[in-house]
Amino acid sequence: MAEILNEGNIWHLRNEWISYALMELPGGVLAHLYAGPRLQRLNPVGLMRRHGVDAEAFTVQECALDRLPQEYPSFGLGDMREGALTVEAPDGSCAVDLRLVCAEILDAKPALEGLPATRGEGCAAARFHLRDAHTGLEVELNYAVYDDCAALVRSARLVNRGEAPLVVERAYSLCLDLPDADWDLITLSGSWARERAVHRRPLVAGFQGVSTQRGASSLQTSPFMALARHEATEASGDVLGMALIYSGNFIARAEAVCTGGTRLLMGLNDRDFAWRLEPGEAFTTPEAALVVSTAGVGGMSRAFHTLWENHLLPKRWMGAERPVLLNSWEAAYFDFDEDKLLAIAEATADAGAKLFVMDDGWFGHRDDDTTSLGDWQTDLRKLPSGLKALGERVRALGIGFGIWMEPEMVSPDSDLYRAHPDWCLHIPGREGITARHQLVLDLGREDVQEFVYTAVADTLKESGAAYLKWDMNRNFSNIGSAALPANRQKETAHRYILGLYAVLGRLTADFPDVLFEGCSSGGGRFDAGMFYYVPQFWCSDDTDALMRCEIQYGTTLVFPPSTMGCHVSAVPNHQTSRVIPMATRFAVALGGSFGYELDPRRLTDEEREAMRGQIVFANATQQLRLYGAFYRLRSPFEGNDTAWMSVSPERDEALFTYVRNRAVPNVLPPLVKLRGLDALRRYRVVETGEVYGGDELMTVGLSCPVPSLGSGDAWSVMYTLKGEDEA
Ligand code: DGJ
Repeated sequence: MAEILNEGNIWHLRNEWISYALMELPGGVLAHLYAGPRLQRLNPVGLMRRHGVDAEAFTVQECALDRLPQEYPSFGLGDMREGALTVEAPDGSCAVDLRLVCAEILDAKPALEGLPATRGEGCAAARFHLRDAHTGLEVELNYAVYDDCAALVRSARLVNRGEAPLVVERAYSLCLDLPDADWDLITLSGSWARERAVHRRPLVAGFQGVSTQRGASSLQTSPFMALARHEATEASGDVLGMALIYSGNFIARAEAVCTGGTRLLMGLNDRDFAWRLEPGEAFTTPEAALVVSTAGVGGMSRAFHTLWENHLLPKRWMGAERPVLLNSWEAAYFDFDEDKLLAIAEATADAGAKLFVMDDGWFGHRDDDTTSLGDWQTDLRKLPSGLKALGERVRALGIGFGIWMEPEMVSPDSDLYRAHPDWCLHIPGREGITARHQLVLDLGREDVQEFVYTAVADTLKESGAAYLKWDMNRNFSNIGSAALPANRQKETAHRYILGLYAVLGRLTADFPDVLFEGCSSGGGRFDAGMFYYVPQFWCSDDTDALMRCEIQYGTTLVFPPSTMGCHVSAVPNHQTSRVIPMATRFAVALGGSFGYELDPRRLTDEEREAMRGQIVFANATQQLRLYGAFYRLRSPFEGNDTAWMSVSPERDEALFTYVRNRAVPNVLPPLVKLRGLDALRRYRVVETGEVYGGDELMTVGLSCPVPSLGSGDAWSVMYTLKGEDEA
């Protein structure tokens, strides 16, 4: 159970796995005392001495703040490191001197105003009130530690209690001062069709980290950062993971400082950001999650997975069936009409899938990507019977109907743009920069939010759709809002994200049974902020199974399999031209919320038959695959293969998948050590009938059959393990 202990000037937040402690020093400075594996008791003197600080004799004089581990530091009053908070006072100065006013242990974790955050059940929560006497700025630091995972969340709320406006120039969500720098830094970076590759390197003196200023959490990086001890592996060793529950511009940085310590910071990117706080106004930062693992990177991932699954993802969809779907994009792109879609839908139903999704190209006069975003009226040239009838005809086949929209965008060639040119992000007098021939709607505006809500709600009502793919396909530029005065222009990007959350919050509340799948040129906004609203996200536009091994491997560092939209696509693959056996395409797509991205009519009879069997297997293993404990076994970033497995909560069932990239002749069979099983139990490999001890599978490994000489590249094997009681 999570608990918060308070003795004098020390607060200790902990659960079975994690301890996090704060300390008030003389003068009211709030110091950070400890974050790591659970401690039974704390010695503040020793913990502070790790940083070279004498807790009892502390004063801020002689620049003592420069060494002090602090909860929410600011630059400019003796601490020479980067701070978490910068606020411009009416006199033009920017330093903030926060002193503790009081601390509260809360009965319940409060929701965050306008922002997604972990929910309030099953946790212990505390709030610390701090004040800067010079400006009247008050800061509330909010914390919660959960009962069921090694995770703590925190955020800050700034309130201007002074008499003059203040300008928040930086307000990060998390600061963590560690007493050493003997860590590797792990981040996820990539690009379109190559999202979330794992990057691990030793911390070096100075700054390192990841950030984005593209308007979305982005294809290029992920609001996540971890420190792993040099010796920590996938399965063992100490790891600290941090993730931000936010979908826009963020920054995550580690500063290895000259004394040998490390400062970690994470929050809203302050690039091109400022927020004006009039007297009485408040500003809330996104929530950051901190995860502690003593079981390596895998332990960190499972703690994140539990945190998101039990406390963040929409409750309606947790543990719920995710329908096997077929999406029309790679089957037809923009080239379809009603007959073609219905023929594909019929083949989808025939194969046993549950949902047919009509992707881009159904509205306005959108025959390619140059036009019509914003004009969400059905293109009657292509769909003469209309959207309602199409939905009905698909449902008459016994399957659900799903639809694609890109509601945040507008094409210059659209009635919407012609009617409301000021509704897009723009800087008056400057030429608007299009990307994918489109402009970004200014979602910070309430009238735009209303338009987007209505467009999506009307489409859902008219089509009767059971599923909506919410796409977003460009970075921000010309970042300015016609709705804001000059001194609030730097609020535009964050207001956009708040507007996005407001619309998604309304829509998901009003259409609770519609399955929303996020998408952003693939996985360009794959973050914990979005997962408060949408239970799954299209993982990548790259459907090549070998590329997907990397992308899905990296993604699972932070997010559970259920969140990843993964589809079997046609060969040659449309992104890489590779021809990968269908069995391997299937095995890899089973790594997430499963579906197809092809025209089933173009499959051979044999492949169509295989598809039927695949769907039966996908359904039968869905609970295990999507919601079981997830273990990565082989990294595609380290060798010629990838392997992973999911284990049921009772450890009586597991699904193991192995993919070898390149065929290599004349080598021993792959031998993979399994994890997460019951060491004392016997397991039968259903596909081979072989029986092993759980300990044997975890210490010796499971030896996979030797691929025959002709098996070629991208060979895979999948095994179902069933626990058996001793005879
Ligand atoms: C980008 C998405 O990632 C694709 O899956 C597809 O929906 C296209 N947009 C449609 O324009």
